[in-house]
Amino acid sequence: YHVDWDTTAAEKSGYDWFMRKEIFEQPRAVADTLLGRYSDNGELVLDEIRIGPEELRRVDKIIIIGCGTAYYAGMVAKYVIEHWTRIGCEVELASEFRYRDPIVDANTLCVAISQSGETADTLQAIRHAREQGSKVIAICNTNGSTIPRESDAVIYTHAGPEIGVASTKGFLTQLIACYLLGLFLAQVRGVKFGDEIGAVMDELAGMPPRIQRLLDGADEVYGLAHELIDQGDYVFLGRHVGYPAAMEGALKLKEIAYLHAEGFAAGELKHGPIAIINPGMPVFVIVPPAGRDQLHDKVVSNIQEVRARGARTIVLAEEDDGEVDAYAERVIRLPRVSTLLQPVLAVVPLQLFACELATALGNDVDQPRNLAKSVTVE
Ligand code: G6P
Repeated sequence: YHVDWDTTAAEKSGYDWFMRKEIFEQPRAVADTLLGRYSDNGELVLDEIRIGPEELRRVDKIIIIGCGTAYYAGMVAKYVIEHWTRIGCEVELASEFRYRDPIVDANTLCVAISQSGETADTLQAIRHAREQGSKVIAICNTNGSTIPRESDAVIYTHAGPEIGVASTKGFLTQLIACYLLGLFLAQVRGVKFGDEIGAVMDELAGMPPRIQRLLDGADEVYGLAHELIDQGDYVFLGRHVGYPAAMEGALKLKEIAYLHAEGFAAGELKHGPIAIINPGMPVFVIVPPAGRDQLHDKVVSNIQEVRARGARTIVLAEEDDGEVDAYAERVIRLPRVSTLLQPVLAVVPLQLFACELATALGNDVDQPRNLAKSVTVE
């Protein structure tokens, strides 16, 4: 008696790749990471932050450390945490941090972001920070891994195991943990913004169905990937928190499609990058929410500028943003959300695009060449 049973196929639950499965798990992963964080009396609960309130009130500088995708989550966190807490926040690649003699002391809070909790560069960076007397909070997806064990506190993301080497649900849940940390610090320090914590929590709670709507539109993004299959160079533009989202979109293409892809801050375009725009080059542009944001119009001008040089403009804009239509070859609609939370949505179509393009190119999406899921050497 013999049962033909392919365990790997079973674990992929019908998807061709773990990565694609993990992209589609994001509504649940985000919901799980938010679960139980907000009490009925309107308090944000982060019991795992075992650093006392007195100590958190003394913090005068935050340094966020990570590698790869985790670093881009850290870039978003910088905008968010500074805006909500008014504490100066730096974000640094873990591999650069320790070797530049950073200024870190007992009033510095280090935040180490790592999906695996085993990345050697990040681990060495937090060891260095702690030697200088700094407290370290880890944001991590892997229970009991080394980085949380060597940190003062840990916020676990509840993405579930991430198998695909290119991080997807790991990234989205890292963003959620960063928002929670920012809100928590604002709450502890009694920043005036504290009144609005409930409003942000409500918006966060509404993210899973919004992500689901983007996933329901996957076929359109897949169609685009097939249309662009012959393209070898990509540019991604974003501004403010859209900038790290653009970087992450470019990283996904590099990692799994092995294509040349660059992310730029849209405002920097005129200072150099616009020179590389060739006719026919696909340029993805992440547009900030319309109306509420002065940066919106500046980014719309950037679309015009690259379009005038012959770029194929693929624009990610809010669903009722009509201003982009005239300059966009293609518009991918994002559900309405406040500016700081937009990266959670903007990155999803970029993940889908990279996954589909890499698949169409015949690459091993889950095990891309030259890369490892966790890099345990410096
Ligand atoms: C490796 C992976 C990347 C990941 C980075 C950081 O380079 O290939 O996908 O973003 O490590 O990993 P971590 O586990 O620390 O988040």
